[in-house]
Amino acid sequence: MGRVTGIAYVRYQAPDLDRMERFLIDFGLSRSGRTSSALYMRGTGADHHIHITELGDEPRGLGLGLRVESREDLEEIAAAAKVRVEESSEPGGGVRAILRDPNDMRVDIVHGQRTLEPVPVRAPLVINDSVTAPRRGELQRPVRGPSHVARMEHAVLAGPNFEAASSFYQNLLGMKVSDRIYAGDPSSHIVVFLHCGLGRVHTDHHTVALMKSPTSAIDHSAFVTLDWDDLMLGHEHLERAGHHHEWGVGRHIMGSEIFDYWRDPFGNKVEHCVDGDMVNDDHVPGLASIEDDILSIWSPPISKTFGEITKCR
Ligand SMILES: [Fe+2]
Repeated sequence: MGRVTGIAYVRYQAPDLDRMERFLIDFGLSRSGRTSSALYMRGTGADHHIHITELGDEPRGLGLGLRVESREDLEEIAAAAKVRVEESSEPGGGVRAILRDPNDMRVDIVHGQRTLEPVPVRAPLVINDSVTAPRRGELQRPVRGPSHVARMEHAVLAGPNFEAASSFYQNLLGMKVSDRIYAGDPSSHIVVFLHCGLGRVHTDHHTVALMKSPTSAIDHSAFVTLDWDDLMLGHEHLERAGHHHEWGVGRHIMGSEIFDYWRDPFGNKVEHCVDGDMVNDDHVPGLASIEDDILSIWSPPISKTFGEITKCR
């Protein structure tokens, strides 16, 4: 069976592409494509785009793109899902199969998108910890301004068909469980974190996470900054620009990322993150109670509106 190897992009719908672009530039992305009906934004990495906004009246999350390593993997997944493989008509090209997960979220399985020359950025800062102090004779002088988002890390999808969605991503797309959260009874799972099943190869702790929820939506999408200082500099930049801060800065428990959550102008929750855990298929899945203050190991108090998700479809 084919398997997905990473997340390519997230796809939203919004009524004003210029307004979305202005926010995303402050967030640390740059434009790589624009048509009359869609905006494509890239990070500093080689991916052609990692954030898509389609023009449409109602702001909402539309879906995500997941990458496969080969055309054969794409054909296998498409055949199992009973959908066809097609040439992508979007900037960056490549081939894709468009699936719907059990919560009716659009899931593009993509291969062979054109890559871009990476955007030059400074080297990640070397931190002098108390033991090794590896930086000798070099000064820390990062420059103020927006974060430099390198790539996408994950998307968290909310929806009512939690168990069916969980088996869709595992059985059809080859993903594996990293951690679960339960409410009340330990067998009553409400969140599952999934990594790409790459055998011994390490990958992000979660590329997709699923949340049990009455409505189907993208809870949030997450983007990796250059390093921790880059995330903090981006925080100051977004704050000065008057954007809506949601929650952070803190460190997650599940995935360990240092995180900072913002709302785009249309209410979507977007996350800057860095220093996340890397796992492989030897990882033993964890289980924790939602009661146990499980979202962060340190952070300011969680915002009252953190749980609000924008409507999907
Ligand atoms: Fe996240």
